[in-house]
Amino acid sequence: MLLLISGSLRKESFNTKLLHVIARAYGGLSELADLNLPLFNEDLEAELDGVPTEVQKLSDQIKAAEAVIIASPEYNKNLTGVLKNALDWVSRTKGGPWKDKPVALVGASPGREGAARAMHSVVLAIKPFQPRLISGPELHIAAAHSEFAQDGTLPNERYMATIEAIVQNLKDATA
Ligand code: FNR
Repeated sequence: MLLLISGSLRKESFNTKLLHVIARAYGGLSELADLNLPLFNEDLEAELDGVPTEVQKLSDQIKAAEAVIIASPEYNKNLTGVLKNALDWVSRTKGGPWKDKPVALVGASPGREGAARAMHSVVLAIKPFQPRLISGPELHIAAAHSEFAQDGTLPNERYMATIEAIVQNLKDATA
């Protein structure tokens, strides 16, 4: 199973659309993670004597996935709070779900730079968990509002060639 993690909760999110395009190129089963989690709070952890059920579910999905793709919007040149919140919660679960997990990072934005700067902050945020980060090729979809077709496909051949290369690198990392 390929796990898709979007840093956006928006229904029409370009980043979530991008994840589905990559999942179709990857083939097989995929699941979209639910990052609509409570805000991290150690008091809540103490109250529950652990993490919320939905956080444990996310951690289990990461552990079970053969590979993970994270797509984050860029909010003020950084990853989104939604994504950082999820990473912090998962860091409190047991079993090191990220350890050696093949992970690709991608991003989309209506702006000119396609969330490129957000990617650097995602690298910093995820590095502590020692995933097997796919180093490239980089995929930043610029002007995302005019790139996706109505049916959710991405007609741009240059982007699709980059997606094929990412998919191949991810599959090589799972072998
Ligand atoms: C943005 N957006 C944005 N875009 C960008 O390229 N660089 C940036 O620094 C920012 N900053 C930013 C901050 C905040 C608070 C919001 C709400 C938006 C625009 C952003 O890329 C756009 O809303 C995307 O459509 C968000 O991604 P999804 O939801 O389409 O995946």
